[in-house]
Amino acid sequence: MKLDSLNTLLEEELKDVYSAEKQLLKALPKMAKNASSGDLRMALQEHLEVTRGQVQRLEQVFQSLGKPPKAKTCKAMQGLIEEASEMMEEDAEEAVMDAAIIGSAQKVEHYEIAAYGTLRTWASLCGQNEAAELLQETLDEEGEADKKLSGLAESLVNPEAEASGGGMSSGGGKSSSRSSGRSSSRKSGGSKLRR
Ligand SMILES: [Fe+2]
Repeated sequence: MKLDSLNTLLEEELKDVYSAEKQLLKALPKMAKNASSGDLRMALQEHLEVTRGQVQRLEQVFQSLGKPPKAKTCKAMQGLIEEASEMMEEDAEEAVMDAAIIGSAQKVEHYEIAAYGTLRTWASLCGQNEAAELLQETLDEEGEADKKLSGLAESLVNPEAEASGGGMSSGGGKSSSRSSGRSSSRKSGGSKLRR
């Protein structure tokens, strides 16, 4: 494939991000399953729904360019998901595992933010205004997801709360999906305290 124009490059990179989103559709439920915090689990499940919409929106982008939607394996997303999977195999304190899951999810979000920002700019340079608008919508959603994850990282894994050794917070949902092997490693519920 010769990249003879920005338009061709745009189409090629769309195939990459289309693959990335589809891979994420499979990975997000696994990440949610490994999360102990109810809030984190909910945020990941919510992002799964948002991601389904983004896959459809990408199909609209292809359509607006007069191209059939095609995926070309995104190796970057493959690597990010592989690292997340390896990390989730580790034995970890629940709150620490949650922090790790948030970290993995944010790496994914930042990759997508870079990809969509670039695609949006290229679409707009190519005069593909409908595509540019659609890509901007997704870019905004990814930005929101990233912000939400940052907020969760601060509220769920709070070293001050951990140090204070306070009791379990009533909200947030106790883990039900965590495997029994890990629950014993938790010393105090303090790490789940909210500010
Ligand atoms: Fe996405």
